[in-house]
Amino acid sequence: MSGASGKRVLLVVGGGVAAYKALELIRRLRERAVAVRVVMTRAAAEFVAPLSAASLSGDKVYSDLFSLTDEAEMGHIELSRAADLLVVAPATADLLAKMAHGHAGDLASTLLLATDKKILVAPAMNLRMWLAPATRRNVETLRADGIAFVGPREGEMACGEFGPGRMAEPDEIAEAVVELLAGETSLPLPTQAKPLSGRRAIVTSGPTHEPIDPVRFIANRSSGRQGHAIAQALREAGAEVVLVSGPAGLPDPAGLETVHVETALQMEAAVARALPADVFVAAAAVADWRVAAPAGHKLKKSADGADPPPLELVRNPDILAGVGLRASGRPKLVVGFAAETERLVENAQKKRAAKGCDLIVANHVGEGARVFGGARNEVSLVCAEGVEDWPELDKGELARRLVAEIARRLGPRA
Ligand code: CTP
Repeated sequence: MSGASGKRVLLVVGGGVAAYKALELIRRLRERAVAVRVVMTRAAAEFVAPLSAASLSGDKVYSDLFSLTDEAEMGHIELSRAADLLVVAPATADLLAKMAHGHAGDLASTLLLATDKKILVAPAMNLRMWLAPATRRNVETLRADGIAFVGPREGEMACGEFGPGRMAEPDEIAEAVVELLAGETSLPLPTQAKPLSGRRAIVTSGPTHEPIDPVRFIANRSSGRQGHAIAQALREAGAEVVLVSGPAGLPDPAGLETVHVETALQMEAAVARALPADVFVAAAAVADWRVAAPAGHKLKKSADGADPPPLELVRNPDILAGVGLRASGRPKLVVGFAAETERLVENAQKKRAAKGCDLIVANHVGEGARVFGGARNEVSLVCAEGVEDWPELDKGELARRLVAEIARRLGPRA
């Protein structure tokens, strides 16, 4: 017993002189314990009697896409799903063209388009049709689509010419069927191209911690939730993402690279290492200042002089401005955040220009509004063309909406 025993083949018979050999193929397959169900094109029924195919296969022959009984008994999708493999023999030039271009005007072509199984074709046609540039292109397309071919062979043809175009012999086709049935015959669903496939993104997120001494630091209340949600949404949209995260205490999102940093200087260096990128999103709440000279040891109360100790602060580099104002290698799209209590649009526009951003996600902060820690966020999107006020959104929804805007602005990949 072969590995093909008990498997089911759906045999599509095209309209050509070689259709008579399809009857022989049914026998060869059944000898190998393969069940065969036959679909005939209208033209095939001119060459061989459906009744012959029915008696050889021991099953009803299907041919009409709109036959109500067939649809009631078994939809056309079901018909191809119930098989382990689809075989087209003979595959005429017309059937190959329909397959290559995704036509679905009759039952045979519809089944071939709708199937989730592998397809084996045995072409048979006049040699000039086989060698015609259009057929060459169609065959190339079908091979690239993963369609398996058996034949055609060289030989004398019904039309009297000699050359390639003759259908492979039923035994050879049956052997090719057995070989294919031994492997995986289900096809994975074609992957949908994602809007940011092939794009690279860098996202900063979370707070930074600026050390005072080995145990103390200056920090802020950023939770990192919005930045992490944006990194994840970019990933889900197909981008390759590097997330540069301050100490946020959140799990690393799956499917992307997370670089953990503590300080603004470390975050700046990690972003520089992750460049170049197509898009940079600065969602981190970077500490504006750091302690000029952090102590190398834990500061003791009233030990060496001043108590409390004076803390000299120096300005941290602006990471967003550093990327947005780059002379060369600037990402195509640079997105910053701003938290404003008053004159939101005016201040955000100034910030946008000063830091070389394309977009600023401006948070309304004021009486009752929360920026940090919450699950929701209410923002305005500020860009060169103006302002768009977004409703209050869950941070995940806001991230997806921002990523849709990023994808729209980046456009399709060149
Ligand atoms: N940013 C940065 N590096 C800094 C400071 C800020 O990358 N050293 C980025 C933040 O990630 C954010 C934006 O710049 O995208 C915020 O700019 P900032 O000037 O800090 O604005 P606000 O937080 O609104 O603070 P303020 O206007 O009070 O200065």
